[in-house]
Amino acid sequence: MGPSHSEADTPPLAFLRAIRYMTRMHEYQLIDGDQTVYRDGTIKLHTEEGYEGMRAAGRLAATILDEVADLVQPGVTTESIDTRIREMMLDAGAVPATLGYRGYTHSSCISINHVICHGIPGEKVLKDGDILNVDVTPLLDGWHGDTSRMFFAGEPSLKAKRLVDVTYECLMLGIEAAQPGARLGDIGAAIEAHAKQFRYGVVREFCGHGLGRLFHDAPEVVHAAKAGTGPELKPGMFFTIEPMINLGKPWAKVLGDGWTAVTRDKSLSAQFEHSIAITEDGNEIFTKSPTGRDKPPY
Ligand code: MF3
Ligand code: CO
Ligand code: CO
Repeated sequence: MGPSHSEADTPPLAFLRAIRYMTRMHEYQLIDGDQTVYRDGTIKLHTEEGYEGMRAAGRLAATILDEVADLVQPGVTTESIDTRIREMMLDAGAVPATLGYRGYTHSSCISINHVICHGIPGEKVLKDGDILNVDVTPLLDGWHGDTSRMFFAGEPSLKAKRLVDVTYECLMLGIEAAQPGARLGDIGAAIEAHAKQFRYGVVREFCGHGLGRLFHDAPEVVHAAKAGTGPELKPGMFFTIEPMINLGKPWAKVLGDGWTAVTRDKSLSAQFEHSIAITEDGNEIFTKSPTGRDKPPY
């Protein structure tokens, strides 16, 4: 990641740039028109135009996952699900934000069982009892709608179903904590406290993120944190919350393909993701299922 090194990118300059980036982490910037938006470490605050753009992108993302619920069953390949997702995005006038993103060549991430996130769709065939996360990000009219849900192929074990239920509860508790005037750390604190009650591991290596015109922007939304820490949540902020919760230890590793993240102890992992906004009096979820299919069974 990051720009390639140039002659000018001597260590002192890179160092100064890093300091500048870090000091900007709690700076806010109003996005109120067609200006170019940079990944400069500032937290963007949006206007009504942004909310409208995100509602459309978020609704499309959620509608796509509604249809994925009908596609997931034993015997189906993850590649075939990805292909249908790409078609749905293109039909709606959107493009998959993941296609070509840092060299990624698919339109979704499909993460089965002990895969935490960024599973690459392929010839793998779903089998009875698999639990899987499908993560989609259509880019519609310049706005990113990023959401994921868990799906069941056939009938998973009771312990797998409980993990999925608790992970959904973690997401919703995180969203409840996302209030104007609260701190970013309050979100991770709420998620971690809930997961802890079940002795589940909260993944640290991957975070939620600011989004809008950009796919991955400041702030980093960690899913385990200390309450009362981090930047203040202000109306106009758009970000994802996407807790990854493991049945076992929290530790992750990335496979040789450079993408697939798995649990080190091979335990099952679950994840749900919504794109939300902070509003004057609470928050707005952009990626709620229009048909109420926010969590399985569907
Ligand atoms: N949608 C993922 C997220 O929630 C990002 C996937 S990037 C990819 O942030 F390149 F792996 F697709
Ligand atoms: Co995301
Ligand atoms: Co996502």
